[in-house]
Amino acid sequence: MSTPTPYPEHLRVRIEEFLREIDFLPTDPRARNQADGTQGLIDAMRYSLLAGGKRFRPVLALAAAEALGEDPVRLLPGAAALELIHTYSLIHDDLPAMDDDDLRRGKPTCHKAYGEDAAILAGDALFAEAVRLVCERQQGGPDVQIGILAEISRATGVGGMVGGQFLDLRDAGLRSSESLRRVHLLKTGRLIGACVQCALVLAPPAPAVADLYRAFAHELGLLFQIVDDILDEVGNEALLGKAVGADARLGKATYVSVHGLERARALAHERHTEAHRLLERIPGPTRDLAALADHVYQRHN
Ligand code: IPE
Ligand code: IPE
Ligand code: MG
Ligand code: MG
Ligand code: MG
Repeated sequence: MSTPTPYPEHLRVRIEEFLREIDFLPTDPRARNQADGTQGLIDAMRYSLLAGGKRFRPVLALAAAEALGEDPVRLLPGAAALELIHTYSLIHDDLPAMDDDDLRRGKPTCHKAYGEDAAILAGDALFAEAVRLVCERQQGGPDVQIGILAEISRATGVGGMVGGQFLDLRDAGLRSSESLRRVHLLKTGRLIGACVQCALVLAPPAPAVADLYRAFAHELGLLFQIVDDILDEVGNEALLGKAVGADARLGKATYVSVHGLERARALAHERHTEAHRLLERIPGPTRDLAALADHVYQRHN
């Protein structure tokens, strides 16, 4: 793999600032004391949320908005909501009952630092606070807010991320390539798809163009998890900020265990090529979307 393409840093900085400023206490000053005693919960949420991370999902949402001719700033609350949900999924994914990992984003996992009870609740609260962000701060009016919440709920429910996580845990081991692809599309692909969908809700293009965006997001979602599987096999723990070899330790079915490393790399190459083919057919300034596709393919972190 060649030199990594520069990441859309201007979008990452915007989202990072927005995340840092989120106040999880009730907005109404008269209701703020209802949250008395919850500082430990908020600390656990912020510990994981502000631990770094590529911010790939919100940056993708903002880059899609930009390509659609929208001011990306208008999608910041929705994009931040997607990162809160992603962070919740990581906190729960690392729990002893799930992947049982000790390192995340270069730091001890949330349950190692704050205890399992606080980590479970921090994940729960991040999901709820994501919904609240969209309801209280997303621009575009109720139709846009409900449209974004609909996309988020479809992408994260039983037919999305959480269903995929269940299949990943309960149906591990030897797996057909088709069922592995389905698990990857559910557990990782659907939330990545939702990032693009949220931009489409805010700035809907012609239906044929929207289909191209959705097809692009589908390729990107699958590519993201194929590369994650490859990095679990050959990645560098210091760069990744999480343990390598975790999938093999747990006997997980991955693109590497099912197809072998070389074939997994070839399949990643196919998805990357297809993503670019789709992008070429999308009108508008798609440069940052192209950079994201390259980053996902070439990433080491
Ligand atoms: C890791 O996501 C979990 C997967 C879905 C593979 P990222 O690789 O985006 O993790 P961060 O957000 O950069 O920490
Ligand atoms: C996690 O997949 C997917 C979600 C969190 C929804 P992994 O279990 O492969 O992610 P890592 O490798 O721990 O980041
Ligand atoms: Mg997992
Ligand atoms: Mg994991
Ligand atoms: Mg992984």
